[in-house]
Order: sequence, then C-alpha cells, then structure tokens
Amino acid sequence: KMQRFIDDLMRQMTLEEKIGQLNLITVGFDVTGPVVSKDVDANIRKGLVGGVFNTYTPVAARKLQDMALKESRLHIPLIFGYDVIHGHRTIFPIPLGLSATWDMAAVERSARVAAEESAADGLHWVFSPMVDIARDPRWGRVMEGGGEDPYLGSQIARAMVRGYQGPNNDLTKNNTVMACLKHFALYGAAEAGRDYNTTDMSLPRMYNEYLPPYKAAIEAGVGSVMSSFNDINGTPATGNKWLLTDLLRGQWGFKGFVATDYTAINEMVAHGVGNDAQVSAMALNAGADQDMVGEIFLKNLAQNLKDGTVKQETIDLACRRVLEGKYKLGLFQDPYRGVSDKRAKATLMKPEFLDDARAIARKSFVLLKNENQTLPLKKTGTIALVGPLASRQRDLIGSWSGAGDWKQAVSVEQGMRNVAGSGVKILTAPGVNITDDALLTERLNAYGGDIVPDKRPAEEMIQEAVRAAQQADVVVAVVGESQGMTGEAASRADLNLPGQQLELLKALKKTGKPLVVVLMNGRPLTLNWENQHADAILETWFAGTQGGNAIADVLFGAYNPSGKLTATFPQSVGQVPLYYNHKTTGRPFDPQDRLAKYKSRYLDVSNEPLFPFGFGLSYTTFSYSKPTLSTPTLSASGTLDVSVTVKNTGNYDGEEVAQLYLRDVVGSVTRPVRELKSFQKVLLKKGESRMLTFRLTPEDLKFYNQNLQWVAEPGDFQVFVGSNSRDTQEASFRFVEGSATN
Ligand code: IFM
Repeated sequence: KMQRFIDDLMRQMTLEEKIGQLNLITVGFDVTGPVVSKDVDANIRKGLVGGVFNTYTPVAARKLQDMALKESRLHIPLIFGYDVIHGHRTIFPIPLGLSATWDMAAVERSARVAAEESAADGLHWVFSPMVDIARDPRWGRVMEGGGEDPYLGSQIARAMVRGYQGPNNDLTKNNTVMACLKHFALYGAAEAGRDYNTTDMSLPRMYNEYLPPYKAAIEAGVGSVMSSFNDINGTPATGNKWLLTDLLRGQWGFKGFVATDYTAINEMVAHGVGNDAQVSAMALNAGADQDMVGEIFLKNLAQNLKDGTVKQETIDLACRRVLEGKYKLGLFQDPYRGVSDKRAKATLMKPEFLDDARAIARKSFVLLKNENQTLPLKKTGTIALVGPLASRQRDLIGSWSGAGDWKQAVSVEQGMRNVAGSGVKILTAPGVNITDDALLTERLNAYGGDIVPDKRPAEEMIQEAVRAAQQADVVVAVVGESQGMTGEAASRADLNLPGQQLELLKALKKTGKPLVVVLMNGRPLTLNWENQHADAILETWFAGTQGGNAIADVLFGAYNPSGKLTATFPQSVGQVPLYYNHKTTGRPFDPQDRLAKYKSRYLDVSNEPLFPFGFGLSYTTFSYSKPTLSTPTLSASGTLDVSVTVKNTGNYDGEEVAQLYLRDVVGSVTRPVRELKSFQKVLLKKGESRMLTFRLTPEDLKFYNQNLQWVAEPGDFQVFVGSNSRDTQEASFRFVEGSATN
C-alpha cells in the first residue's frame, strides 16, 4: 500500500520537487552550525523543502505545515525534526548520566516522556539516540552518549528507540516520534578527542568495539540515521558508500532514510575530497538521502544528473526513502498528528513527567567516595553550601537541552532547601568563578552560558566561603564544569576542575569540616586531590530540570545512590584513551613487579584508572560470593548458568548493579582483558541476600575475527562477577564446538 501510494505521488513529481524532498532546512532559531537556511517560506511553497528542524510548538508547526499543504503544488507534508536529546521540555540527566543508571526501564522512560512532549509540541522526528562509543573524555560529546562499552551501549540504544518509537515501532500513533540514530559512524573516536577530527580504525576494532550500538538500534527498528562529520579511514562518513550502503543497508538491512549532519556534505569540500558538485554526487551515491542545511543537493543534483555523475534512479530512491519516512509517521493521513495548544498544555512538563525526571536523575548519580559515612547528611545543624554551581539553574539542564527552559530547573540550593526543611540552616557562597578565563566565559556566553563572573578577587571569594564553612557542621561544595564546557565543539585538553575550584576545595579542607564534593560535569574528570582529601564525592552529571531536588534527595538519604560509571575516570589526561576492555599487550605490566622496566606502562603514573568502569558506591555495602557455574563446559548448542549470591551487608536498603564480564583466554585475534556481557540491577533490603543467575550462551562468546566472521572459538574462558569492572571474583569454563560430554 505504501509503495503504491508513493509510486503514484512520485509519478506526479518534477525532478525539482524530488530534489526538494532531500532538502532539510533549519528555521534558524536554535542554530548548531555556521550556516542558516534562507528563503524558507518561498522554498516551502515551491516544494523545495522536505523537512524542517529547529522549530516547534503547535502554532509554529501548523503554520509551516499549512504552507506546505495548502501552498505547494503537490501538498506533500513536511517532517519536523529537532535535537531532543535528553528530554524535550522536561529535561532528564545528560545521556552519560542516564547511562549511569544501568536501568534500561529508566532510560526508555526518559525517551518515552521526551516523545510524548515533543510529539505534542509539533515534532515528528528527534535527532537521538546518539550511541557513539567514546573512550576519550577530552571529547566534549562524551556527555551525549552512553559511555565506553559496546554491550551497555547496545542495550541503551534499544531502550531509547523503544522509548521514542513505541514498543511496536508504530509511528502512526501520534504520541511517538521517529528516532534518528547518530552519528554514523565512529564519531566518538575523533583523534585526540578534538571534535570533528579524523577517525582511522581497523575493521575488527570497528565491528567489535564501536559498531555494536548502531547495529542494535537498527535491529530495534530505528526509522532514520544521521551520517557523521568525521572521515573514516580516509573517506568522510557522509560520502562513504561502504558505510552508508554496503554496511548499513547491505549487511544490516536498514530500510529507513539517512540524513546528513549539519552541512556535512559541504564540509566534504574542506575534507578535501572534491568541489560542491563532486561532493554532492559523492554523498548521494554513497547513500545520503537528506542534506541537512547545506543545500548542496538542491543546488547541484540537477546538474549532476545532466553530467551523468548521478542517476535518476538514485535521486528517486533517496526521495522514496524520505517519503516512506513520512508515510510511516502517518503524515499523509494526518499531517498535524493531533497537535493543539490544548494537548501541548496538558502534556508539557506535567507533574508526572517532573516526577519521572526527579526519580531518574537520582538513579544516575554515582557515589565515588563516602568516608566515615559522611553521607547521607542529617537534617539538623548548619550546612555551608558553596561553589560556583551551588545556586545556579542554568547548568543543571546541561548541553543539548534545546527546548528546555533552564529557568524552570531546580538548583542544588533550592533542592536542599526543599528537602532539608526548616531544621537545617544553609549558608551559601560561590567560592570562586567557574572559570577565570575571560575569553572562555565570553565564548560560553555567546551560546547561552549565562555566566556573570563575580568581579571580586578569587582570594576574597574563597575567604567568604571559608567563613561559611567555619560556621557550619559540614561543607557541601558544588563544583565541576559549566554546561557549555561539554557537548559539541567543547573538547578540553585538561580534565581537571576548571578555574580555581581546586584552590577553593583546598581552602575548605583546611577548615577541618567534613567536605562533601558534589560534581556537575559532562565527562570523566581527573580528581586525584579530590579523591584523596574530600570526605565524600557525589557525581551528579548535569541532572536536568529536577536536578536540585534529586541531588538533595540523595544528599539527605531519601534515595540511596545506585549509579555506576559508564566511562573510566583516569588519573591523568596522559593516560587517555583509558578503558577497561583493553588488550593485554605482549608486555603486560604486573603491579607486583614494580621495578620491571620493559613493560607496557608509564614512568610517572600507574596504568590504573582513578575510578574504573562500572564503579559506584552505595550508602550500604554489598558482598559477593564466588561465582558458581552450572557446567564446566559450554557446548555450541548449550547454555551455562553463572550464579552468585549478593548480600546487602550494610545499614540501608539499596540497589546494586551486579556485572558479569568474560575473557576469551586465547583467540585467533587478540582479545580484551574482559568484556561486559550481562548485568542485573537489584534492590536488596538491609541484610537481604539474593542469588542472581546469569545465563550465557555461545552467542555471548562471539566476536568478529580477522575475516569479520561472527564466531565463538573453542577454548578456555574466564567469567568475572562483581560490583565493577575491577572488583570481581572469577571462575572458568571451556567452550567446545560440538556437544558437551557432561
Ligand atoms: O543533531 C545535531 C548533531 O548532533 C550535530 N550537528 C547538528 C545536528 C542538528 O542540530
């Protein structure tokens, strides 16, 4: 039926109108690139626009849709997209924070709420999930993804697609939105963590370590894909036929449409692979269907066709794919998808969604240290609440929170006042500015940073905070990054706390008062002094609209923290990229043999991270039994159950993420020291024990070999279970290709 409808429609379309469908424009109020689309209205009327982004609200969507439906020749509806990344109006924690929940129902729920809100606000299409595996915290977009692990990243990709598109991918339901998988591909492997930089990678590494989350999203039925800015092994992703056609469609069977990133086709000229006309043909022939903002297709494809550098059938195919996307969204039947002011009013930021935002934010926080049970705080006495982020609302909603209104975000100060009640006296002082770099401040403010630097000398500000600390029973210092210091085009070469925040912490420490560090940041940071000297450290990322309330819930013990890191925190930026699932090398360093010279190591820092992948504490403690295996031998058709008893040995009810890792001891290619293969998040009451069983099948042992075959190789395997990627207990089994004898 869809094909017949589109055949009919395409028969009526001129070449110009077909090319028009390949044109995705921005109306320009929320620009994320250097160029803004011109002649928007006129082009819509002429049928030269397929989709629009950076506009929403029922009024705006209706206005443009009316223009396309009533004033263009063929009345083809527009598709409205937007960067809905971690919530639309109700903002959830940044994706790195969401991933730290290790709670796929929570991740899915955040996307569901975003879908309900964005659909009610006139949108059809969200530029999410971003599933780029990232191992380099210098890269600013680490905040936008699910961290460093391909298995966890794949689970998150599926949960997000389900949340946006609904459980059956039925996009005709008007409370769903089409997801857009991005950035295809390998954008997170930008060299040196510098945004937009080159990626160059072997195929086995790509297939085993970077591609799985994209593949998972395709399998989950994601409706569209965005090609990335970077080049891959010498060819820009946006003009890469191997990537956009052979792999995506040929090997993975993707049936939706591919939009480019913002002016990514034009940028192929700067990549040095051709002029406008050449990159136009290259992108279309590679499999890019819609040109975001650049209007390269609009200006070149007709000539490309005349010159013979593209074929009519390739233009037709791209046009068909875009129209199919619209058809799947039901836009030909109901181009307005039921949007109205009434529906928007009843949906946007409704109390239930704010409750979700608060509950999910609490789950995303990672307790990195808690000496002498400094946390939770008592609801009595005096608290010095200091630090440049303590009272700010702007940063809480984080980067990529386009339609989020930071003025509606709850600051930490406000949250603490809400939760603590009248028994607690709270003294506040900013302590220092978030940065003393005037140019950086100006740059951040140019993109809505809303930073008003305190003009007093740092010394004076620090002294004010110290005086507050001296009058208090405990100090809570809210420090970290401003939201604009992470996200797109926000790479950093230094991973320490910016500005003079460390000096502030040192001065506060000297008061002898218990020091609780609450971190807000969008990437792993180097926190050596903080880890040595703070009494407690709570990582809260950028926690969203309800961030301050959620942080206060955790600080005062209404919620026991349960998040775990999904990206390794290094000791030093010099260790980067540092990730848990590395290879052994031929000269692995043995920490027992400290004098050994010719080993894979540094002279000035150990190989260890500061906090490993999967790490996170709780107000309670958990013990793990040694894992037991249902069989010592797994056969090709068999299963193997790994059981472990986890006990809550502390004084609070709490959730624990039990993690299972595997090591393939000998492989036809070098294999990682361990790889996450399963996890379970469980709530255990104080004193409760529970046996957890993880079922493994040969599928869990598989990897891509040198010939890119997906294989499980016979031999010995180690299985590790524990509370993070470092602190585990192990058992071993053998995998045999035939049927096992026992
Ligand atoms: O979706 C984004 C992408 O992540 C980065 N470039 C701009 C796009 C649209 O705003």
